[in-house]
Amino acid sequence: MNQPNKLPLVVLISGNGSNLQAIIDAAQEDLPVVIRAVISNRADAFGLDRARNAGIETRVLNHRGYPTREGYDRALRELIDGFQPELICLAGFMRILGPEFVAHYRGHMFNIHPSLLPALRGLHTHQRALDEGVQVHGASVHFVTEELDGGPVIVQARVPVMEEDSADILASRVLKQEHMIYPLAIRWFAERRLRMADHHHQVLLDNAPLQAPVRFEAQETSG
Ligand code: GAR
Repeated sequence: MNQPNKLPLVVLISGNGSNLQAIIDAAQEDLPVVIRAVISNRADAFGLDRARNAGIETRVLNHRGYPTREGYDRALRELIDGFQPELICLAGFMRILGPEFVAHYRGHMFNIHPSLLPALRGLHTHQRALDEGVQVHGASVHFVTEELDGGPVIVQARVPVMEEDSADILASRVLKQEHMIYPLAIRWFAERRLRMADHHHQVLLDNAPLQAPVRFEAQETSG
């Protein structure tokens, strides 16, 4: 279906897909997007069920079928481009994407990462936040660039760390905030308020460079 006022999205997942669900729910409210497809590198990703339940097309592209990263990236790109999206959302997609792939979608690909970037790039961020004894942790939505978890950050949710937190408890509080900031960043992009500057390191919101990510503070008691 052609919906001219809605931004066409493709969402990439590998697992549970709760961020995908937040985007689906927002789109069913008033987020002006249409999710053309959900693509997973794993056939058992629960997020695929979420997509099917919402009547969204799904595809599985298993990286194990490709001996090289370049080969996988090429196949993934062909699959994505068949849906002609204007924005690609990585939502718990646990594959590193090569520089050619990333360059192809420059300024048109978001990722959500469970830390206050540039702190704690990479994996196991919640446990590492506890190990480092940080008082504030959180999540970031950023444009994807060639640098892993290094693209310019659009919006962050800051989540206080409690003394009694385990990694799982902290993760679930952070995740709840992810479900708020991801649809928000997508909304700004869909409303043409947001773009990445040509030199890559900056976000423009309403034509002004963001000096720092837009930041939200989670309530201490939210859980
Ligand atoms: C989310 O916490 C997301 O930030 C993280 O994976 C989780 C996916 O949850 N992403 C990364 O760690 C990317 N490096 P979900 O499948 O329920 O949306």
